[in-house]
Amino acid sequence: MTVWFDALSDAELAAAAANSFRREFDTELGGVWAAPGRVNLIGEHVDYADGLCLPIALPHSTAVAVSPRTDGLIRLRSTDGDPWDGRLDDVGPGRPAGWAAYPAGVIWALREKGLIADDFGGVDAAFVSTVPIGAGLSSSAALECSLALALAPDADRTELAAACVRAENDVALAPTGGMDQAASLRSSEGDALLLDSESTAVSHVPFAPEGLSLLVIDTRAPHRLVDGRYAKRRAAVERAARQLGVGSLRQLADRGRDGTDAVRSLKDDVLRRRAWHVISEIARVRLAVRALESDDFAEFGRLLYASHMSLARDFEVSCPELDNAVESAMIAGALGARMTGGGFGGSAIALLPDGGVDDAIAAVRGRAVERGLPEPAFATVSASAPARRLA
Ligand code: GLA
Repeated sequence: MTVWFDALSDAELAAAAANSFRREFDTELGGVWAAPGRVNLIGEHVDYADGLCLPIALPHSTAVAVSPRTDGLIRLRSTDGDPWDGRLDDVGPGRPAGWAAYPAGVIWALREKGLIADDFGGVDAAFVSTVPIGAGLSSSAALECSLALALAPDADRTELAAACVRAENDVALAPTGGMDQAASLRSSEGDALLLDSESTAVSHVPFAPEGLSLLVIDTRAPHRLVDGRYAKRRAAVERAARQLGVGSLRQLADRGRDGTDAVRSLKDDVLRRRAWHVISEIARVRLAVRALESDDFAEFGRLLYASHMSLARDFEVSCPELDNAVESAMIAGALGARMTGGGFGGSAIALLPDGGVDDAIAAVRGRAVERGLPEPAFATVSASAPARRLA
């Protein structure tokens, strides 16, 4: 039997969060906000090199029901983790540990950036989520962004996204870039979000391919961004930029032949391959946007697959579970497929003719089972709404 992971409607999600709040707290509910997870269509491991990426917001979201306090206490509850109670002063770089680092970190970062008042009095917050955890679909960004919007609903969303990144980097100690938070806060329904990480400017590229489905394959191979491998890749990319005398590899990606020659001149083979991924991936994003603008989904699909091969061979962030998902989907007729997100586990996406989804699922699942890999879970998704107030 196929395992699906489903989203809820906004009304269902709001009701679930409100119910959870009422079970946990005896205070009066102030409101409910939600923020989506994301899949990145293309532009992977380039956000921290000032590059371009092209995520969509998922229909799967995290909702938070909140109520302000006046005594400086923060009380955090989630259907997916242990309760956490603390004071504003208990939160700072590296503290607290565990899931609470993300929402507590958001409160800390919002205060640091002056996006909530200095005399902020604390909050009761209850989270429920349909974004699978550890699946590489940005459950942490959804957690952060839902609370950020709940606490500072009128703040500029670019600044809110930056505060959430700060929470993730400085409090949760995950050295990620800014793609996930931008996708969650700044996307628009029906569109992919073209994020330029150098300027943080975004534009919206329609993504509603007729006759095609976007399948998300959660390989169920656990994916973690705080275990050191993501940090190692990021450090290599920054080292390559330093050796080549540029502030970021993006600058080389914008220099055509001179840029590629510079990357070829790197002596260290591993560093050269890492840098090559980054500059070739940025070029693929530009081509992918052009393909979408001209409804050329065959070309778009080829670029997705080329991105996967680059991530697998040159950047080395894939794994047998992701390769299996991508290869099986391609053999079953996908126009393109690739790992999405940080890698080392997590999820893949496949772009398929509507009528080919069932066959692709059977192929991906069948080969996973044959090879003794975990049984994947599936969802078909479309470009969905960004963070919003639900109730
Ligand atoms: C994770 C990070 C993002 C980005 C991707 C890889 O999702 O949170 O900032 O670096 O990996 O593209």
